[in-house]
Amino acid sequence: MMEIIDGKTVSNGLRQELKVKIAALKENFGKTCGLCVIIAGNDPASEIYVRNKMKACEETGIYSETVKLPETVTQEELNAAVKQQVARNDIDGILVQLPLPKGLNEEEALNLIPPEKDVDGLSDENMGRLALGKDTFPSCTPGGIIKLLEYYKIPMRGKHAVVLGRSNIVGKPMALLLLKNDCTVTICHSKTENLKEIVKTADIIVSAVGKVNFVTDDMVKDGAVVIDAGINRNNGHLCGDVDYVNVAKKASFITPVPGGVGPMTVTMLIYNTYESALRKINGRF
Ligand SMILES: NC(=O)c1ccc[n+]([C@@H]2O[C@H](COP(=O)([O-])OP(=O)(O)OC[C@H]3O[C@@H](n4cnc5c(N)ncnc54)[C@H](OP(=O)(O)O)[C@@H]3O)[C@@H](O)[C@H]2O)c1
Repeated sequence: MMEIIDGKTVSNGLRQELKVKIAALKENFGKTCGLCVIIAGNDPASEIYVRNKMKACEETGIYSETVKLPETVTQEELNAAVKQQVARNDIDGILVQLPLPKGLNEEEALNLIPPEKDVDGLSDENMGRLALGKDTFPSCTPGGIIKLLEYYKIPMRGKHAVVLGRSNIVGKPMALLLLKNDCTVTICHSKTENLKEIVKTADIIVSAVGKVNFVTDDMVKDGAVVIDAGINRNNGHLCGDVDYVNVAKKASFITPVPGGVGPMTVTMLIYNTYESALRKINGRF
């Protein structure tokens, strides 16, 4: 029996739980969780993402601030804006919205965020910590996928997980998190030979390639768990990397697009910001 992984419901439930926990931090410790999003330029997609993040903060009781910088901002000004947030005690999480306008060095700005405030998990130090299996904030999309697997009680230990894609935002941290959860992990990318045969041996497939119908039913073993992190447009329709209709006939669990992985990403940002505030109180990290 195939089960659809309902990311929207899981995400809403997690947000409700977080709302209660965030209120409890305030009541018991007088601590308000705070998130700052730094955005540069006027990319319309980024503006929508930032608005969604702010809305999620409002919903869950997180204090949020947006620092808007002009398209013409210099690296020095951007760095100064990040440092200013780093110094603040009331800000627990800092996120630099990507992509930055051309000519700016994303890595330089991200690496100014200390790991305890890097709720997007993209700094070198946080990635290194993840690779070393240390306590850290993983990047939000892979972190959300692990939460979905846990919610549906999908066994990971000893299972063969195949991750399609090796980007620093999705593929690589995904592989590291699955490894942390005792999967046997294979990472496939554009230079992989015999990709189809490899994917066919997977118990868990996570696709983060960004291509419509990349994962077809002839690549999927009966009963596999199929997680689709892709966000693509096909004739104006939002879709993932997986040929959903046909793959769903073989999978034991599958995420739809939209409504699967996507809703978890912003929720993980809220989760990480709450965790950061909690760790500060507990003197942990
Ligand atoms: N759900 C969410 O919230 C969320 C968040 C972030 C991203 N996404 C989506 O996830 C997808 C991936 O994002 P990304 O940022 O990781 O993209 P990316 O940086 O473009 O990485 C794509 C990866 O796919 C691999 N690839 C491309 N063509 C391939 C092929 N023919 N065979 C095998 N591998 C191939 C690339 O391999 P090489 O490394 O060899 O080039 C690369 O590692 C996109 O659709 C994006 O929109 C979703």
